[in-house]
Amino acid sequence: MARTHKIAVMPGDGTGPEVVAEGVKVLDKAAAKFGFTLDYSHFDYGGDRYLRTGEVLPENAVEELSRNDAIFLGAIGHPDVKPGILEKGILLALRFALDQYVNLRPIILYPNVDTPLKDKGPDDIDFVVVRENTEGLYAGAGGVLKKGTPDEVAIQESINTRKGVERCIRFAFEYARKRNKGKKVTLCGKTNVLTFAFDLWARAFYEVAEEYPDIQTDYAHVDATCMWMVKNPDWFDVIVTDNMFGDIITDLGAMIQGGMGIAAGGNLNPEGVSMFEPIGGSAPKYTGQNVINPMAAIGAAQMMLDYLGETEAAASVEQAIRTVVAEKMKSMSAGRMGYGTDEIGDLVAAAL
Ligand code: IPM
Ligand code: MN
Repeated sequence: MARTHKIAVMPGDGTGPEVVAEGVKVLDKAAAKFGFTLDYSHFDYGGDRYLRTGEVLPENAVEELSRNDAIFLGAIGHPDVKPGILEKGILLALRFALDQYVNLRPIILYPNVDTPLKDKGPDDIDFVVVRENTEGLYAGAGGVLKKGTPDEVAIQESINTRKGVERCIRFAFEYARKRNKGKKVTLCGKTNVLTFAFDLWARAFYEVAEEYPDIQTDYAHVDATCMWMVKNPDWFDVIVTDNMFGDIITDLGAMIQGGMGIAAGGNLNPEGVSMFEPIGGSAPKYTGQNVINPMAAIGAAQMMLDYLGETEAAASVEQAIRTVVAEKMKSMSAGRMGYGTDEIGDLVAAAL
């Protein structure tokens, strides 16, 4: 019997549906070539549904999504919906409810892609950020007092549990071993100021590190991490960090790897259901014009194949991405690729 993977497809808002369609095109080609079946279920969660129904996620959403082996997400964010509602109500809600405790974000500069970093090339930019994905400032702890008055107080607390931090750190060490490149994990923190939270992180980090004598350890404050990512990105192999710092440094990472058009990520629960997404957002102004770069979504699809155990197919999609990026595309930016969104998907599928 052929292997079957159940995939929940959530195109979402803006250009999400366009890029997801290209990801699915490539997935279908990979499935045909490598002899497995993808059984898709479609979910219309996003801004349009919210505006129509007034609910962000229906009651049974988590349960229905959990019946799948993985989720393939386009983008969440709608210009007519107040910021925060969809992001917290859908994206963060799913990351939390499905306990996707690692947000894995590879920062790879493919050959022939422009980076704003002078004199840096593909040999210098090849690392991955392991971002804690369920705690920190994102946990929603805190509150507001005397709102709207001159005495207003707003408190937003960073939650760091030993368990949450440790599982994320352990994932980073395992990943560094499996990746087998620099064999180094850098903790990105702020131990000089956030002396409660990052003291916990640092202790957990060095304790876990003892179990991995083959992996080097390093530490950088988050501000210095930003500096080194620009100055010496080749120093990094695997960076592990908290939710907020991970959010920030991966946007910087996306820029040095050629832009949001190429940056993919996976929200992972190694023991549960993971969700793969291009990290760039819904880019509403490009919606429906066939100009958005679907490569990040195709990269997310490739990460999903790898996670589903279709490693050969994943490697082959990665090679196809490299080929199309190196030999065909003029730019990673929307509208300047030299091809339409759908043609990029065709090219990657053909290169497979
Ligand atoms: C990301 C995004 C989200 C985040 C937003 C949309 C809530 O920026 O995936 O990086 O902050 O995690
Ligand atoms: Mn972000």
